[in-house]
Amino acid sequence: MPRDLESEKATLAGMPPLSKEQASSPPPADPQSIYKIPTAERFKKMKGIHPYGLLLSQADLDDCDWLEHAAFEPHEAASREKLEYRLRTCGQLCSGIFSSAYPTTSGPLATLVKSRTFPSVDSADSDRKRLLLGHIIATRFTSPVVTDASMDFPKDWRTKYQLNPPVGHDEDGDTVCLHSLCVHPNVQGKGLAMVLLRGWIQRIKDSGTGKRIALLCREKLVRFYERAGFKRVGDSTCTFGGGGWIDMVLDFSSGVTIDDDI
Ligand SMILES: CC(C)(COP(=O)(O)OP(=O)(O)OC[C@H]1O[C@@H](n2cnc3c(N)ncnc32)[C@H](O)[C@@H]1OP(=O)(O)O)[C@@H](O)C(=O)NCCC(=O)NCCS
Repeated sequence: MPRDLESEKATLAGMPPLSKEQASSPPPADPQSIYKIPTAERFKKMKGIHPYGLLLSQADLDDCDWLEHAAFEPHEAASREKLEYRLRTCGQLCSGIFSSAYPTTSGPLATLVKSRTFPSVDSADSDRKRLLLGHIIATRFTSPVVTDASMDFPKDWRTKYQLNPPVGHDEDGDTVCLHSLCVHPNVQGKGLAMVLLRGWIQRIKDSGTGKRIALLCREKLVRFYERAGFKRVGDSTCTFGGGGWIDMVLDFSSGVTIDDDI
């Protein structure tokens, strides 16, 4: 069949003229991209860290306990037993951000490696350490916001497993309660918390683990969580750690908007 040159000409005439500038400019940024920070700057901030994410389990208890108490004020940190309860009962809801560091590394990781013994990473090089830099510890509960009951744990949890306990982790709860997000003080301000948080939210959302995520935070961190898609609900009634918390919720049914400006 002969080509219809006249109609092809008309199509071409309707198109904007190609310029050299257009040909070399990058494609428009994806509005949902987290890479608004220029790659070079992001690379510089993370230099020497090479973070990677993993689910947490009870095997990470020593590291989580150490990190929790290094990052939080003593009255806000979860006790070792509470961490153990959460990691054992619902470790699949918890995530860590790690680095595989060498003992000889200079900078913030070197001081961390010297501060305590970390497990070796699964590598041919036995000197490499599996260094926990940040974690998210969460449970599921039935209330739409974080409550004191959701933050507590059954005192007989070691001997009596309950699917729907009055406090702690409720297997049938549709709210994922984020109880602890922290990054070791030596490596804060590099974007690790946001990387960890966004990856974790995506996993919870995609896996249909809950209808929403709820958390408590102080006023100074409201904007941080808003950037990750959370909305401020109001003042919390929780008395944990002396109270004064703000309820934040990210509801998957109302659509999630993640602010690119991190
Ligand atoms: C809050 C915390 C997890 C942030 O970790 P981080 O790795 O330093 O955070 P990021 O580097 O990803 O921060 C991203 C942005 O959040 C904001 N932010 C982070 N921590 C903040 C803080 N303590 N106060 C105010 N803003 C903060 C900053 O605007 C930062 O942007 P910047 O790079 O332009 O400064 C960390 O400071 C921490 O562990 N704090 C102690 C535990 C805690 O309070 N956890 C929150 C419980 S609700």
